[in-house]
Amino acid sequence: MVTVENVRLVLGDRTILSDISFRLADGEKTGLVGVNGAGKSSLLKILAGQTLPDGGTVTVKGNIGYLPQEPSVAFRSDQTTLQCFLEARGLLALTDELDRTALAMGKSHPGSPEQRKLLESYGAAQHEWERRGGYEAESESRRLLDGLGLARLPLTQPFGKLSGGQKTRLALATLLFTRPDLLMLDEPTNHLDRAAAGWLMDYLAAFTGAVLLISHDLILLDRAINRVLRIDETTGTMDIYKGNYTRYIRQREERRILAEKQALLAGREMARLQVTADRFRAGTRASQAHAIDSRIERLHAGLPTQQTVSKGPKMKTIDAPPTTRIVLEATDIWKAYDQNIVLAGVSFAHERGQKLALIGPNGAGKTTLLRIITNQLAADDGQIRLGQNVRIGYYAQEHESLDPNASVLEEAQRSVISTQPPFLGDAQVRSFLGTFLFTGAKVYQQVSTLSGGERTRLAIAKLFLEKSNLLLLDEPTNNLDPASQESLLSALKRFSGSLVIVCHLPSFMERLAPERALILPSGEFTYFDPSQLALEVIKRRGPGARKASATLPPPPVLTGRR
Ligand SMILES: Nc1ncnc2c1ncn2[C@@H]1O[C@H](COP(=O)(O)OP(=O)(O)OP(=O)(O)O)[C@@H](O)[C@H]1O
Ligand SMILES: [Mg+2]
Repeated sequence: MVTVENVRLVLGDRTILSDISFRLADGEKTGLVGVNGAGKSSLLKILAGQTLPDGGTVTVKGNIGYLPQEPSVAFRSDQTTLQCFLEARGLLALTDELDRTALAMGKSHPGSPEQRKLLESYGAAQHEWERRGGYEAESESRRLLDGLGLARLPLTQPFGKLSGGQKTRLALATLLFTRPDLLMLDEPTNHLDRAAAGWLMDYLAAFTGAVLLISHDLILLDRAINRVLRIDETTGTMDIYKGNYTRYIRQREERRILAEKQALLAGREMARLQVTADRFRAGTRASQAHAIDSRIERLHAGLPTQQTVSKGPKMKTIDAPPTTRIVLEATDIWKAYDQNIVLAGVSFAHERGQKLALIGPNGAGKTTLLRIITNQLAADDGQIRLGQNVRIGYYAQEHESLDPNASVLEEAQRSVISTQPPFLGDAQVRSFLGTFLFTGAKVYQQVSTLSGGERTRLAIAKLFLEKSNLLLLDEPTNNLDPASQESLLSALKRFSGSLVIVCHLPSFMERLAPERALILPSGEFTYFDPSQLALEVIKRRGPGARKASATLPPPPVLTGRR
């Protein structure tokens, strides 16, 4: 289905891909892994024909459906959700054609050659419409939306009225609807909650076409794939492993141990030869010594390349300036979009130094609440009060605050300058950036060219450089490779300020162990308990928002556990 031969890609001063070759067979399910910045997205762009490689060839048979890491979704804003689906499979144009032909037939003379011709083309269009699954289109669209967590979205909703999150999920749904021969998905679970992500993986496993999938959500990856391609970030080469992700990890470890054993044996042999060669050289047998030298060189060249053990970042934090005891207090917050009540009387008080988890399925209003707290969105009713000296650091899913034209260093400096007076000098900013893996020439790279994970690291670094003492984090683990997730986890555990976090990774949340949880849509404010994360999976919202009582929830217990 896809044949890649000796593909090379150079970006800036780095060879990202060097001489990569592989094939994807029909129906094969492959995961593409590698650390942040290894070149995964770049490879998909090459396969999709959006980037030209610096060398090599790519041959594709059949059609590709491609979801980029940051999808831009372009449907007409007056188009309904159903029409978006129909358009994706070419059914919309066919429906128009059928209507036009029917109209022309109605106007033509019965039995005339003109009408016969029209009838013929009507039949052909009708046949094509059926072939493309016109009859099942509506029920299939509904199923895809339900699976991806948009059960409450009516098929009649105009595209222009969808939220950002709904648009990206619709983009994914319509892409699946096109049933391409090869689906290429770049971190598709970024936009999904646990339930929807699990549903997607099962869908992919059962999908009859081929799949090439990038995901750092490794538990989920296991469900969907049976082969792993890994890009090595230092050599730009590719290793291929049979089996799912768990098996890949095991095989990698085996290969590493084997390579080490070979290196040890070869090392011993080389040492032995060296001694002999030196002895010969000391005597009069220089030419024999020379022959042994070449043998040593051959031995060395024959060794398998050692695997690079990638060092993840060691993200530093910056101590947050002190605030009053209550950093954030929300009182009876209400918010509705048209008829859809999202927040129904949410109240809570968040304390200094504590972590608060926002828990709830897609669409429950977590991002809405964060945007109300940051004043980017007005509540319909209710009040947000911030404590004294509170500096909010908001990590938004779309990184909209990053200037695409600035360099990494300029962006970091901009954050420091915003603190007035700036508290770090240039050299300190650079060394801080170093702990987020921006070293050397990397600090001069333009933000727009950063990989997804690199952009996330920069956005997180900026929160600390702004001296924030209340972090609002909306899915900060998205795009991060496992090592970076670990580093972020320990940074957040060390951080002395307060934080509010949305994150769908159960293991991450369990280990972060926030003190409090705010559960949406019910609005219950309580102690955090890992079992609450299951609510994101099972407790989908039924029709009509639950109306929370207008009275305050029982006051939180503010003593103990500090
Ligand atoms: N114009 C450029 N100049 C210099 N480096 C670049 C340029 N464009 C991309 N890069 C670098 O190429 C590398 C590969 O980027 P790519 O987006 O393919 O990585 P990725 O494997 O998808 O990473 P992630 O997991 O973070 O999404 C990154 O380190 C990126 O910063
Ligand atoms: Mg990427």
